[in-house]
Amino acid sequence: QLPCTVRDLSEAAGIPAMQIQRVLMQEGVMARINDSMDEDLTEFVAAELGLEVNFAQAVTLEDELLASIRDAEDPEDQLQPRPPVITFLGHVDHGKTSLLDRLIGINVVSGESGGITQHIRAYQIEKDGAGISFVDTPGHEAFTEMRARGANVTDIAVLVVAADDGVMPQTEEAISHAKAADVPIVVALNKIDIPGIDPMKAMADLSANGLQPSEWGGDIEVVKTSAITGEGMDDLLETLLTVADLNEYRANPNRNALGTSLESQQESGHGVVAKVIVQNGTLRVGDVVVCGDAYGRVRAMFDTLNPELAIEEAGPSTPVNLLGFNTAPAAGEHFYVLDDIAKARELAESREDQARRDSLGSTGPVHVTLENLFD
Ligand code: GTP
Ligand code: MG
Repeated sequence: QLPCTVRDLSEAAGIPAMQIQRVLMQEGVMARINDSMDEDLTEFVAAELGLEVNFAQAVTLEDELLASIRDAEDPEDQLQPRPPVITFLGHVDHGKTSLLDRLIGINVVSGESGGITQHIRAYQIEKDGAGISFVDTPGHEAFTEMRARGANVTDIAVLVVAADDGVMPQTEEAISHAKAADVPIVVALNKIDIPGIDPMKAMADLSANGLQPSEWGGDIEVVKTSAITGEGMDDLLETLLTVADLNEYRANPNRNALGTSLESQQESGHGVVAKVIVQNGTLRVGDVVVCGDAYGRVRAMFDTLNPELAIEEAGPSTPVNLLGFNTAPAAGEHFYVLDDIAKARELAESREDQARRDSLGSTGPVHVTLENLFD
């Protein structure tokens, strides 16, 4: 964006601000970090510093995409009901994976190393003819960021709180993620089977954290559950479906798909396998996709619950394992379907250049800041 300040340029290009000031000084311009430069001066400095790419370009391309794709209004008559996306959040070991396993009738938890979820899982199931999508997030502290992303694709957050443990630090984090995402919260007060526990303590914790249980006159549904005995599972599902019904989630399946990458990895024999969730439109085999610095043509898609099952198209709220990206897109990156592979490549490459500059800047050897040089 022009005109820009010394700081803007420094941040956009990933180079120390002092380097920019040095160039300016050679031109007889004494600039402070918040002083702005006009277009000519900015271009001159960029050229002097050997930045061959115009930094405004990545922003402009991204802006164009955001404007033309993401924010394109869907005509009312194109909108159709879509499955809710329900994310499990909460403190480590409080039972997120066990609850989800129990809900959808699989067993992932017993196969996890150390019983700790390392990956984001996303599944779509059918219940009474309607779809429901679930996302399970890692609960370990190291995964705060991933969990934050989990909340972003989410319509409803299930906050899992172990009744014997109550609200813990990562429960609080989960609450703030859900609040930031502005999604309804349903509490699963789990491990209710443990003999001698007092659920009142956990309820009081919740209340102290701004989640007033409905049985205490508040607006938060607290469902007592046990992933071991199955107690409360029907109740939990019913509560979630009620919340979903109230919100009437809709999307337009008749447009180019867009969504979010949840995680991805390089798998031998397959290339890049990206777990993505479609948020609007319909994603089809053969589509051109761009996702951050990754792009490609969708070569194949597979069901996330049944990894052998190939899928030709995936509608709104559907998670899939996607083959076809040239490189692994970062988790949390948005993906878009474009009509033109050349445009997808251009966009991906400009992002890649940007990332390279950022990483160069952050590891640069210069420790003198502008403030201590000039102030
Ligand atoms: P992370 O993914 O590591 O954050 O953990 P998680 O929240 O997914 O918890 P997980 O499902 O792995 O369960 C942790 C432990 O609690 C396991 O040993 C489960 O068997 C146990 N557990 C889960 N739910 C219940 C429950 O309702 N009752 C009892 N008694 N134990 C449970
Ligand atoms: Mg887990």
